[in-house]
Amino acid sequence: MTFYNHEISKYITGLFALQDTALIHTLQDSAQRGLPAISIQPEEGRFLQFLVRASGARRVIEIGTLGGYSGIWIARGLAPGGKLITLEKEPFHARVAEQHFALAGLADRIEVRVGEALRSLASLAAEGPFDFVFIDAEKPDYPSYFEWALVNLRVGGVMAAHNAFRKGDILNRVDPEENTRILQDFNQRASREPRLISTIYPGGDGMLVGVKIA
Ligand code: SAH
Ligand code: DHB
Ligand code: MG
Repeated sequence: MTFYNHEISKYITGLFALQDTALIHTLQDSAQRGLPAISIQPEEGRFLQFLVRASGARRVIEIGTLGGYSGIWIARGLAPGGKLITLEKEPFHARVAEQHFALAGLADRIEVRVGEALRSLASLAAEGPFDFVFIDAEKPDYPSYFEWALVNLRVGGVMAAHNAFRKGDILNRVDPEENTRILQDFNQRASREPRLISTIYPGGDGMLVGVKIA
C-alpha cells in the first residue's frame, strides 16, 4: 500500500519547495509572454536541486530551457564554481529565460545555447564529461538524448528525464498517445541499462533518474 497522492505532494511542496519571488515571477512572466505552461512542478524542481547537489555536480546540461524555471532550481543546486548549460531551440524562449536567470542573480552560472539540442550536444561532447543531464524537450528525441547522456556522463554522474508518467497515460497498454509510447519504450530502455542504477521519482509528472555506475 502507498499513501502518495496529491495531498501528500502538497505537504512536501509546502515544506520543501516554497518558491521565492524569482521563481514566482518566472512562471507568471513566462505565461504572460505566451510560453506554454509546461514547466516542471516546484516539488520536481526541489528534487532536481537536491540531486544536483547530492551528486556534487559542477558541469550540468539541461535539454529544454523554456522560461528558465527548472534551470533556476538546478543552478541553485550547483556545487561552488559549477555551471549549467541549457539548450533551447526557440530564440524567444532563450531570451525570456536569460532575463529570468539575470533576475534570479544566476546569469554568471547559466549559459543558454540556442539551437537544435542534438546539434548542440554533438559539439558539447568535446567539453565533457558532465556530472548531470536533465532531459525535458520534445519526446521523439528522448532516446537520442539518453544515449548521449550515457556516453557523456562521468561515472557517478546522474541523468533525469521529465514526464515519465505522461499524466498517467504511461499505464495505457491499449491506445497510448505517440509520445507516451515513446516514453514507455524509454522507461523500459533505462530500466534495463546495466550501466545505470535507475528508477522513477513519482512527484509531478514522474522523473526518470539514473546514476551511471560503469
Ligand atoms: N525544462 C523547462 C520546460 C521545458 S519545455 C522547465 O521545466 O522550466 C520544452 C522546451 O524545449 C521548449 O522551450 C522547447 O522550445 C524546447 N525544445 C523542444 N525540442 C527541442 C529541441 N529539439 N532542441 C532544443 N530545444 C527544444
Ligand atoms: C507537456 C508537458 C511537459 O512537461 C513537456 O515536457 C512536454 C509537454 C504537455 O503537457 O504537453
Ligand atoms: Mg516536461
